[in-house]
Amino acid sequence: MARRSKVSIVGAGNVGATAAHWAAAKELGDIVLVDIVEGVPQGKSLDLSQAGPIEDFDSRIVGSNGYAETEGSDVVIVTAGVPRKPGMSRDDLLAINKKIVGDVAQNIAKYAPNAFVIVVSNPLDAMCHVMHHFTKFPRERVVGMAGILDTARYKTFIGRELDVSVEDISAMVLGGHGDTMVPLPRHTSIQGVPLTELLPKDKIDAIVKRTANGGAEIVGLLKTGSAYYAPAAACVQMAEAVIRDKKRVVPAAALCQGEYGYSGLFIGVPVVLGAGGMERILKLDLNAEEKAMLDHSANAVKGLVEALKLE
Ligand code: NAI
Ligand code: 2OP
Repeated sequence: MARRSKVSIVGAGNVGATAAHWAAAKELGDIVLVDIVEGVPQGKSLDLSQAGPIEDFDSRIVGSNGYAETEGSDVVIVTAGVPRKPGMSRDDLLAINKKIVGDVAQNIAKYAPNAFVIVVSNPLDAMCHVMHHFTKFPRERVVGMAGILDTARYKTFIGRELDVSVEDISAMVLGGHGDTMVPLPRHTSIQGVPLTELLPKDKIDAIVKRTANGGAEIVGLLKTGSAYYAPAAACVQMAEAVIRDKKRVVPAAALCQGEYGYSGLFIGVPVVLGAGGMERILKLDLNAEEKAMLDHSANAVKGLVEALKLE
């Protein structure tokens, strides 16, 4: 008899709780919410469980302030940490989230040693290094969520500008999750029609700029935190790809070991996600200008990783 999958979500704040909501709605499996604040993961999980009879899902959802309930998780989504406030960059979160994510990583290694880990906490690419360092998991089982979110923002703006369905847009945003991210207009198409034939350069440039500023735009509006609906949907798409072995091709922060000329660096690249986790990194043809942008982004990530002083 097949057993249900188990998805644990560490950090029951905005992204974590919303991810639990999407995961339950998709019946990805049983769900464990973990947070340090007493009562919050328990209360949110009880509340969400009680949506089951209305929305018709049977996931068992529990909340905890410890990790025993996460034992045997198939997927762990890590959203624990501090989000940005207006005026802060993702990089400003480095030291505080390093400590939090390092602690979470050690608990995952202890309680869920076979899990596939999706890192969400910022600064994203650097936090993937922290997770990889402290879990010592193979690269197939540690990835960062950012590319799906950044691409979703890019597609949203293109869909609005062209007045077409976002479902018909094919695109990927690569690079680090920060101002240096690399949207790729040359590789963007609407049902095969290149974006560059449908929009003038100045409009595309404006969309690219708004995409790179997409997180800050929402922080500026919310004032007390950062985006969470789209980030949560993005990490649940990654979890679903692994649990249902969908072999989705998505951009995600993965540990490059020679790919794109980078060694030992987590950065956003196209990957295949399936039952084997991050099964492989796909090679996209980049022209000199695109490669220079990716290198610039990789250098920004390297700077942060050096500042982490992981030994
Ligand atoms: P939030 O403040 O709503 O939730 C964070 C939760 O983590 C809080 O409930 C807090 O109590 C908990 N927490 C703190 N330390 C913990 C620990 N040691 N163990 C367990 N839980 C702990 O923040 P939000 O909006 O959910 O964002 C979470 C993180 O995700 C932030 O670092 C944010 O910058 C990042 N983020 C990343 C995105 C991406 O694209 N990679 C997108 C959106 C957010
Ligand atoms: C975002 O891009 C804050 O990284 C988060 O919305």
